[in-house]
Amino acid sequence: MSLSQRPKALLTDVFGTVVDWRSTVEKHLTLSASESLNSSTKSIPSAVRAAASEISWPAVAQLWRNSYYEFTRTYDPGARDKSSFKTVDQHHVEALHTILVDHGLDGLWTDEEVQKISMIWHFLDPWPDSSPGLAQLNGSFVTATLSNGNTSLLSDLARHGSLSYTHIVSAEDFGAYKPHPSVYLGAAKKLGVEPQECALIAAHLGDLKAARGCGYQTVYIERPQEESWSSDETAKAKQEGWVDMWIGLDEGNGGFLEVAKRFGLRN
Ligand SMILES: *[C@@H]1O[C@H](CO)[C@@H](O)[C@H](O)[C@H]1NC(C)=O
Ligand SMILES: *[C@@H]1O[C@H](CO)[C@@H](O)[C@H](O)[C@H]1NC(C)=O
Ligand SMILES: *[C@@H]1O[C@H](CO)[C@@H](O)[C@H](O)[C@H]1NC(C)=O
Repeated sequence: MSLSQRPKALLTDVFGTVVDWRSTVEKHLTLSASESLNSSTKSIPSAVRAAASEISWPAVAQLWRNSYYEFTRTYDPGARDKSSFKTVDQHHVEALHTILVDHGLDGLWTDEEVQKISMIWHFLDPWPDSSPGLAQLNGSFVTATLSNGNTSLLSDLARHGSLSYTHIVSAEDFGAYKPHPSVYLGAAKKLGVEPQECALIAAHLGDLKAARGCGYQTVYIERPQEESWSSDETAKAKQEGWVDMWIGLDEGNGGFLEVAKRFGLRN
């Protein structure tokens, strides 16, 4: 372990790092589509039916997630005033609608149903190590979310997944989205610690790099299909050693349990 000093606060990314958005969203889309297609009270145009039988719901889940990534990555806090801050919920509804239109699926669900389906992002199942691992870590550190998800969404996820956090911190608190520095710096300030006393735990090297640029220590948890950096870039990052703690896929007890173990906590 090469963490220069034991951090006081552990902040975690949430989507993909703590919760397995992919399997939850795929299942939910698949089920919602078959419910709609089976409904005897709905008249769905035959072209939409045909499109729905062809579509890959895992691919839709990925497009939906990509749209969120683009949305947060390109969000410019200076270009909007705080009252017009667009929430992740709003984004999810609009993005799903656009994906449906683009794939000839407009009409499979009513607008109300699209809104309801979009709330699945509040009820994502955690990876198996997340709840027990966070419980151990929360016993020894100040723990907090550090996510682009809206505060109520994060509270719902924490409740749904029995995730032990001392604080729920959202990018929403700072009117910006990660990787904008104001989010990492604002979070440290909100917790009353220096950035150097914080470690970010995430499954995305881009997030860690931005946090590190703000003075944070960094913990990487590999998760299946989560890294957007190429395997070459990932290997290079590992070799360069700028990530302070690197937890490989299926290493030791896995994910957060392995983080707890490396910090000397009993598993
Ligand atoms: C929809 O109908 C199909 C075929 O009858 C069935 O296999 C499937 O379980 C149904 N799905 C739901 C959600 O009712
Ligand atoms: C966060 O999302 C909830 C609904 O999920 C919404 O009621 C709330 O207004 C959102 N927060 C902000 C600041 O828009
Ligand atoms: C996390 O730790 C804090 C501080 O010890 C405690 O107040 C809180 O109840 C814990 N959270 C959970 C969900 O156990």
